[in-house]
Amino acid sequence: MILVTGVSGGLGSLVLDGLTALSDIDVAGGTRSGDGSTARRIDFDDPSTLAEGFKDTDVLVFISAGYAEDDVVLARHGNVAEAAAEAGIRHVIYTSLATSADRTTIALPHRWTEARLADAPFDVTILRNGLYPEVPAGLAAAGAGPAAETGVFSAPLGTGRVSVVAKQDLADAAVRVAAESARDLAAGSRSRHAGRTYELEGVTAVGGAEIAATLAEVVGRSVAYEDAPLGGTRAFLTAATPMEPYQIAHAISLFANAKAGLLEAATTDLTELLPAAPRPVREATADAARSGYQSQSVSAGPATSGS
Ligand SMILES: NC(=O)c1ccc[n+]([C@@H]2O[C@H](COP(=O)([O-])OP(=O)(O)OC[C@H]3O[C@@H](n4cnc5c(N)ncnc54)[C@H](OP(=O)(O)O)[C@@H]3O)[C@@H](O)[C@H]2O)c1
Repeated sequence: MILVTGVSGGLGSLVLDGLTALSDIDVAGGTRSGDGSTARRIDFDDPSTLAEGFKDTDVLVFISAGYAEDDVVLARHGNVAEAAAEAGIRHVIYTSLATSADRTTIALPHRWTEARLADAPFDVTILRNGLYPEVPAGLAAAGAGPAAETGVFSAPLGTGRVSVVAKQDLADAAVRVAAESARDLAAGSRSRHAGRTYELEGVTAVGGAEIAATLAEVVGRSVAYEDAPLGGTRAFLTAATPMEPYQIAHAISLFANAKAGLLEAATTDLTELLPAAPRPVREATADAARSGYQSQSVSAGPATSGS
């Protein structure tokens, strides 16, 4: 049986859907709270749920759970490695982070987890996932209002571009690796993916100039891109968003890497695992720009008409 963790999340739910659609695959999902029937209770912070929840599992799709301070993430991922070994799981597929992001602060728990899994008694496949389109999409959503008003889009990307990959493509790759691993184990052999690390970098890179061009189409005026300094960005995130300090540190690290030109990937293994060309990702930026523009127009509406 294949067990997918984090199926209440964006990536885990897509992986579960993909595996459920395969008639020869036996699959279960886990969430932090469980629901007593369709989802097992799998809370990485509570090892007792792992001993119970990992029962009868041959292949574990271990979706990283990164939204916490690093020491918390290391402890919870360590719990998964230990419990998977104790439960006799034969193959673990871990959703890690692409090599282009190696110098960002978010890479640390991923590389630690990869090393921890390499020491375990089961076979391992590492899926080094590229960045989601959410980073440029978030910048586009936030920039739509100011772009409409001033004709300027400001973001801390310098001239750097960020390679991004559709979450559905990452899910499709995980589904293929998990299903083929389960079939290989059922046939009495090791998974053909055992010991492999796949670099699932996006094939499309998005930078400030591209986002400004998208915003221009959405707001119906020319929009110029301007680089924003990291210091001002940190001060803004601290004062004007509900982000935790560790999240701000990660965001600044990502932007610093983008400015340094490090987040644009040269190669990818994505096409090796997908049946077709990677999905387009620019539409996600355009959608975010449209919704950012609409929500800004709605919130600005009454104030504007009353002035
Ligand atoms: N490549 C990228 O650009 C990128 C960007 C952001 C994040 N990530 C990483 O990729 C992972 C999956 O992405 P996503 O889009 O699916 O994120 P998501 O929608 O936020 O889902 C995260 C999942 O992790 C689960 N989780 C959190 N803490 C857990 C714990 N202690 N034990 C077990 N499960 C726990 C959550 O369960 P609950 O719903 O119960 O909290 C949720 O199902 C993230 O968790 C993060 O580590 C990658």
